[in-house]
Amino acid sequence: MPEADKAGERYQGDRPQAAPGFFLKGSHQLDWGMKNRLARVFNPASGRTVMLAVDHGYFQGPTSGLERIDLSIVPLLPQCDALFCTRGILRSLIPADTQKPMVLRASGGPSILREELSDEQIAMDMDDAVRLNAAGVGIQVFIGGEHETRSVHNMTRLVDAGLRCGMPVMGVTAVGKAMTRDAQYFRLACRIIAELGAQYVKTYYVDDGFETVTASCPVPIVMAGGKKLPELDALTMAYNAVSQGAAGVDMGRNIFQSEAPKAMIAAVGAVVHNNTKPKEALEIYKSLKAKG
Ligand code: 5RP
Repeated sequence: MPEADKAGERYQGDRPQAAPGFFLKGSHQLDWGMKNRLARVFNPASGRTVMLAVDHGYFQGPTSGLERIDLSIVPLLPQCDALFCTRGILRSLIPADTQKPMVLRASGGPSILREELSDEQIAMDMDDAVRLNAAGVGIQVFIGGEHETRSVHNMTRLVDAGLRCGMPVMGVTAVGKAMTRDAQYFRLACRIIAELGAQYVKTYYVDDGFETVTASCPVPIVMAGGKKLPELDALTMAYNAVSQGAAGVDMGRNIFQSEAPKAMIAAVGAVVHNNTKPKEALEIYKSLKAKG
């Protein structure tokens, strides 16, 4: 008889990692400034966040739904916990009197016109993130990609710069076109990103084994949204991700490409912060949509 698979037992997803004295996994031994910035992005009451990702233009220009960020995204600001955007959009379009924390995209290089997207560089100085009063910076890491080593090195340089001034770094698992998106890949990518110093990780949800991805990553994971899905599917994905250990979401297209983005972000917020079940959250979405 083949031995039963013990993988689930080894990850012990039912035993939360301790973080004495702070609400966020893996963050309790960080310095005050770093913790304070994290506590602006992650809600200390729920331990979770709804980040609204609108950074897509950094490599694909005016993405559908982001043609006019002043008109489509600024009205959503009150409902997100943090905005993930580029410094160009921040300076040109985001009102400086907003109280919302900003996490800034800090990598870039190849555009959507290129076949190989992993050829990124650090695209902003940490000094500028501090000048902009950012609550964090985010960078793509291409584990298994053609420029894997460079992208890892970009991240570690950003982490070193962030540690000097108390700026958390969000490492983003970037999946090349040819790569398999499964739990084994994401365990590898998230763990490498955390081991090399990122304070939190953004990664995709997988149906099979996502709880092993969160359990084996010693820092918080936020779920990336990905391509636009029907609202119930997106809400179900967010629900499953937080139920399986994610500390929230960093979603873009599934919010701003929805027919009713304000209603959708409210429904995602109910799932993330209140553990509202997907079908109930869909009702929230529908009733807010109907009210216009
Ligand atoms: C890809 C990114 C994107 O730029 C963006 O944030 C993705 O958001 P979504 O997939 O939810 O539209 O970081 O990894």
